[in-house]
Amino acid sequence: MPLPPPGPDSRVVVTGASSGIGAAIARALARRGHPTILVARTQEALADLATELTGLAGDATVHAADLGTDAGLDATRVLLDDPDVVGLVNAAGFGVTGRVAELAGDAEQRAALDGLVRLNVLALHDLTVAAVGALTRRGRPGAILNVSSITAFQPLPGAASYAAGKAFVQSFSEAVHTELAGTGITLTTVSPGLTRTGFADAAGTDAFDQVPDLLVGEADDVAEAGVAAMARGDRAVTPGLLNQLSALGGRLAPRTLLLPVLDAGMRAVED
Ligand SMILES: NC(=O)c1ccc[n+]([C@@H]2O[C@H](COP(=O)([O-])OP(=O)(O)OC[C@H]3O[C@@H](n4cnc5c(N)ncnc54)[C@H](OP(=O)(O)O)[C@@H]3O)[C@@H](O)[C@H]2O)c1
Repeated sequence: MPLPPPGPDSRVVVTGASSGIGAAIARALARRGHPTILVARTQEALADLATELTGLAGDATVHAADLGTDAGLDATRVLLDDPDVVGLVNAAGFGVTGRVAELAGDAEQRAALDGLVRLNVLALHDLTVAAVGALTRRGRPGAILNVSSITAFQPLPGAASYAAGKAFVQSFSEAVHTELAGTGITLTTVSPGLTRTGFADAAGTDAFDQVPDLLVGEADDVAEAGVAAMARGDRAVTPGLLNQLSALGGRLAPRTLLLPVLDAGMRAVED
């Protein structure tokens, strides 16, 4: 079993734990009996969740850090050296919507794009490499779960940097999963579709309100699927049949046909 059985020495570091999918994953881990270290910027939300989880798993601690900064990343990387840490979940992330030509002319949006790459790509990569190194040195089984997205499977005009970042997450994570075969350490990727969280507000889009409810999933369902796959040491999971079909289409459809359709779809929710 790649995610060691629950117990005081089976602690999991969860980034993005102050809301949405990260918080739901922390709850799913605590329900299974895993102590957690909850990481995000918003101390109060983390403290509330820690109080809730402490009853479930015996222990949940708070680590407030901005993973978009070197200092926040350095302080979080150190957590992985704790011998009781057997797992890492990289859920911290955000989206930016809009056309690159427009975003480039707005200093705030331009900074948000850079911040997206720092958090969604560089911080995830840094913490994953650190966790693989720490678990390997310790010689104990362990498990990592990286939160990707169905946008990983094709380019997405109107959210170009976000989708490209998730393509990095998916490719990197699946490759490292394969490298780790037989080591007792596993890396699982969960690739949700649209999910009801604070994501749309943070991305400054009301696109979620413009699609049928059927297409918007719940964070708890994503978390259950992700943690179950992490516990099994699976390579990847895409929760929900419609999301699986979307991922398949994104992978297989010729780009010359797919990109104009996606472009038109994104323009429809932008206007
Ligand atoms: N919702 C969706 O439709 C959807 C679909 C596919 C994939 N995803 C992915 O799911 C993951 C979680 O997103 P969500 O939907 O749960 O959105 P969310 O509710 O907005 O949660 C994002 C989390 O990331 C944390 N975060 C943001 N910036 C951070 C920073 N600089 N340093 C540390 N933590 C930071 C936030 O905490 P603080 O603000 O407190 O720092 C929060 O805990 C992301 O990787 C996202 O790309 C979401």
